[in-house]
Amino acid sequence: MNELTPAAQIGPATGETYAIPLAVLAELTHRCPLQCPYCSNPVNLDPSSSELTTEEWLRVIDELAEIGVLQIHLSGGEPAARKDLEQIVAAANRAGLYTNLITSAVMLDRKRLDALADAGLNHVQISFQGAESGVADRVGGFRNGHARKLEVAGWVRELGLPLTVNAVMHRQNLHQLPEMIDMAVALGAGRIEVANVQYYGWALKNRRALMPTEAQVEECLRIVEAARIRLHGILEIDHVLPDYYADRPKACMGGWARQFFNISPQGKVLPCHAAETITTLQFESVRDRSIADIWHNSAAFNAFRGTAWMPEPCRGCAHKEEDFGGCRCQAFALTGDAHATDPACALSPRHAEIFRVAAEESAEQSDRFIYRNFSGGTAEKDAR
Ligand code: SF4
Ligand code: FES
Repeated sequence: MNELTPAAQIGPATGETYAIPLAVLAELTHRCPLQCPYCSNPVNLDPSSSELTTEEWLRVIDELAEIGVLQIHLSGGEPAARKDLEQIVAAANRAGLYTNLITSAVMLDRKRLDALADAGLNHVQISFQGAESGVADRVGGFRNGHARKLEVAGWVRELGLPLTVNAVMHRQNLHQLPEMIDMAVALGAGRIEVANVQYYGWALKNRRALMPTEAQVEECLRIVEAARIRLHGILEIDHVLPDYYADRPKACMGGWARQFFNISPQGKVLPCHAAETITTLQFESVRDRSIADIWHNSAAFNAFRGTAWMPEPCRGCAHKEEDFGGCRCQAFALTGDAHATDPACALSPRHAEIFRVAAEESAEQSDRFIYRNFSGGTAEKDAR
């Protein structure tokens, strides 16, 4: 691994320094038995033949520990689709990293979960697509998946591992939010992430089927606020508002390449999970360059650091150090220019247009999904 000189640790665009983040998201594979229509993986999925090998992941884990990373989130696709998941968890544990498995759970059985716990797994996050099988199995495009998730969540708690429930919400399951919160409590989860779908990649393809109504979003806020009071000390509730109904954009990833990075199945180091949707940027691989060198010096990581790259209205705005101009992936998806102010911002010239899109699409009756798969998606009527 390259030793970095102090000068090399300075983002060229700004003169500011950016320390290596404490946590990394490792997307071990894009293979997944589920087909969620809002998957955060890119539409062009990495084929299994291009994935990092076991040896490469073990080397990457040692490299991560060496540069000061403390936590690794093991995700996908479905990380359990890799037969070497136990080896990867054990290596991370040996390297002193806290390990969190982000899983759909449907490929796990009790024996495998025991083996992962023995390998030193610290935390499990299970995604749920609804509060009951009818909605959940249809959204995930996987029969009997919901029942399996409940079973696996029970084993997680039996093993004494902390559990987080991931609840990705949209027009077709928001009516089940109260039951999903109750389900998280019943399962003994310590936290639930109520994440409204963000629209890039697969979700952008499915926006007409997923976009919530304004009334649903307001009701969601009310339910979350009431549950936070009722379940204080029992269940922590994280909530991400859908951008299309916000006046100010979120500081996506805490700002581009400021405090987060992930590694794709084929080893690309990315500032966010959707970064490859920005087709005007080139991302580099752990196969070719050290992670620290990519973090500090690569053109893609430095492209949107600081504020000097910003156009108006961000450049002259009092909020530019708070939200960093919003989400670069969303700006690119909606305007074709990754430098543009995120249209989620009320000051963006495109803001009125995205509100109109949200209102129109949420009122549509087109509920059919395009399921996520390696062939670019399958329309729901064909998949059923
Ligand atoms: Fe944030 Fe830019 Fe909007 Fe200001 S103009 S609130 S910096 S996105
Ligand atoms: Fe990529 Fe927001 S998802 S910057």
